Amino acid sequence: MQGSVVRGPAVCVVQCCNGACSCCLRSVKPRTPVGAWCSSHLDPARAGAPLISRSTRFYGGVEKRKMFIHRVTLKGLKPAATYVYHCGSDDGWSDMFTFTALNDSTSFRSQETQLGMYDVILHIGDFAYDMHEDNARIGDEFMRQIQSIAAYVPYMTCPGNHEATYNFSNYRNRFSMPGQTESLWYSWNLGSAHFVSISTEVYFYLEYGQELLFKQYEWLKKDLEEANKPENRAVRPWIITMGHRPMYCSDDDQDDCTKFDSYVRLGRNDTKPPAPGLEDLFYRYGVDLELWAHEHTYERLWPVYGDKVCNGSKEQPYVNPKAPVHIITGSAGCRERTDRFNPNPKDWSAFRSTDYGYTRMQLVNATHIYLEQVSDDQYGKVIDSIWVVKDKHGYSAWF
Ligand SMILES: [Fe+2]
Repeated sequence: MQGSVVRGPAVCVVQCCNGACSCCLRSVKPRTPVGAWCSSHLDPARAGAPLISRSTRFYGGVEKRKMFIHRVTLKGLKPAATYVYHCGSDDGWSDMFTFTALNDSTSFRSQETQLGMYDVILHIGDFAYDMHEDNARIGDEFMRQIQSIAAYVPYMTCPGNHEATYNFSNYRNRFSMPGQTESLWYSWNLGSAHFVSISTEVYFYLEYGQELLFKQYEWLKKDLEEANKPENRAVRPWIITMGHRPMYCSDDDQDDCTKFDSYVRLGRNDTKPPAPGLEDLFYRYGVDLELWAHEHTYERLWPVYGDKVCNGSKEQPYVNPKAPVHIITGSAGCRERTDRFNPNPKDWSAFRSTDYGYTRMQLVNATHIYLEQVSDDQYGKVIDSIWVVKDKHGYSAWF
């Protein structure tokens, strides 16, 4: 969860998940201490939850604009409790915001938020076009602009290619996702789902460390293995991944999945050792749903594996599908506008739209997920929707 202060000398970002809330304050000097004040509507006794704070520094470009990020983590939050908070220091304090700590129940449905509809926002890479520009002032402005959402609802991210400059420093420094990878890859649980966020960019920016690709792969294997333990899969049957560059797409451009085989899907042979792709791994561990972006369009695929359509049945493709379901939801908008489509997509392409828009997902229960695509160009009209229904999860569900 994140909020940004527009008054005073600092910009503040707060992010929360899994029972902890991390408050970030961006300032131009190494000001400490940074504080956060937090209290629960439902449990006033929890006001002043334990704080852990730390500061990091990064530079904003050729100007060497020095920026300090101060993070305060609040632990021991009560699941589903609503908290009031602000953050800052003697240099200035933010407005008051509220957030609701994530519900740790595996069977809850949508809870009330400021928007009344969403428990979490997923932003699948490519922020602000680009956060590093104008010596990272674009990044500052972007954080201010998302405050009306991100101050109230957990805002979960993964890196895209537009974050690559200065080794993803604006991404790594501005967001505070779970785990110890500077938000590059991580996982978390929500309701009946285990979410896994990855960096597809480790397949492309080898100059920042080829070892990252292998580290992520090994971590993914362990994480998916853990999620597939019978006791875990029984309570969180859905495994949902999000990553920036898709394995499949049918846009009419030079991108890696349109005219070339996707590195993310099949790996790379020009590294030593060869780098494994993710399609086999995700298939083997029974990933149910894969969310992608990067292409400036929306595209829904039939269940697909190995370039082949694997529908549940002809009549009901998404009922007990025989392979993961892929959705490319990259049409939120940017200065490059939307992409054009290849007029002759492959068989796995089920529905495509170039309308600006976004995807809504509802985790209904252990067997049902609902997805719909909202068109901004058509004033909020739902232009596509599916139910993914699974009686069984995991590798054996494919057969
Ligand atoms: Fe991209």
